[in-house]
Amino acid sequence: MNRVYNFSAGPAVMPVEVLEEARENMLSLGDTGIGVMEHSHRGKPFVAVAEQAEANCRKLANISDDYAVLFLQGGASTQFFTVPQNLLSKDKTADYLVTGSWSKKAVKEAKLFGNVNVACSSEDRNFCYIPKECSYSDAPAYVHFTSNNTIFGTQFATEPAGPAGAPLVCDASSDIFSRPIDVSKYGIIYAGAQKNLGPSGVTLVIIRKDLIEQGPSDLPSMLQYRTHANNDSMFNTPPTFGIFTMGLVFKWIEKQGGLAGVAQKNAAKAKPLYDYLDGSSLFKATADQDSRSLMNVCFVTGDADKDAKFIASAKEEGFDGLKGHRSVGGMRASIYNAFPAEGVTALVDFMRDFEAKNG
Ligand SMILES: Cc1ncc(COP(=O)(O)O)c(C=O)c1O
Repeated sequence: MNRVYNFSAGPAVMPVEVLEEARENMLSLGDTGIGVMEHSHRGKPFVAVAEQAEANCRKLANISDDYAVLFLQGGASTQFFTVPQNLLSKDKTADYLVTGSWSKKAVKEAKLFGNVNVACSSEDRNFCYIPKECSYSDAPAYVHFTSNNTIFGTQFATEPAGPAGAPLVCDASSDIFSRPIDVSKYGIIYAGAQKNLGPSGVTLVIIRKDLIEQGPSDLPSMLQYRTHANNDSMFNTPPTFGIFTMGLVFKWIEKQGGLAGVAQKNAAKAKPLYDYLDGSSLFKATADQDSRSLMNVCFVTGDADKDAKFIASAKEEGFDGLKGHRSVGGMRASIYNAFPAEGVTALVDFMRDFEAKNG
């Protein structure tokens, strides 16, 4: 089988080791004679899988018992409304750092439940940077930010320091567990799995237990965090295959040297691409230097025809998924944890060659 270099922004490349282990367990989970997707979620073998996945997650990010680790459904987009539905109300204000399309979508949902203060925005320059200053409200219900902006290729270097006492809520969909994270600084961290954690269909939510109890209890059961926390994410049938695979990905990250190990690999992996872009007279990175993402590298030639020609020739050479999002144009190389370093080196060689012929 010829696996090409897959630069897709998500669902995205997964570690081959994980895919192989998943493949084996599809036919029989361990020696049960029943595939992982065929087991009842209430049976011992799957309960053990879910417990192991949670344990692996807690170990990886050093998550204390003050937090619940939930495996939910509905994607990060469901968290856009579940967070405000549980933590915001008409007499309260939440602060949002608006650094891209996903944060804008989160703001839109939050406005259904209460007041929103946009503490900062980088929309004035098409989200090509992470703002340095924020203007917070007096006592926000929480502060929400998007740690990595998948579409625009920008990333917070570290978490923003919001006003004291305000829980920090992070949409970490596209850079979760790509570097060390001090979970104790956060109220909620959520991420759809399909970029750094596994297949689509499962959403990881790490939530401080006192926040779980703050939510109103007259919401539909599925929309209350307490329902999922009180039932070990098994109030209804959970995304069993996704949870299993996520558990394998946590274990794989641990083998890479944990979060510090992958962070070092991710930095070393993105560097040759950014270095090349900085020296190129054909291609140009779109994000400001101090805001660049190590997960999504966005670049353009400035000429839509050349961009299209580049994307088409790259695909022929086995570099897939390089077309940028329509709101930025050009190209985007998504190089999440599982993307191999040699794929970036090969891409840079290809770009150099393309520049020599088309520059
Ligand atoms: C940063 C970010 N937030 C949220 C989403 C939406 O996630 P989902 O499709 O899981 O709802 C995405 C999807 O690409 C994303 O990149």
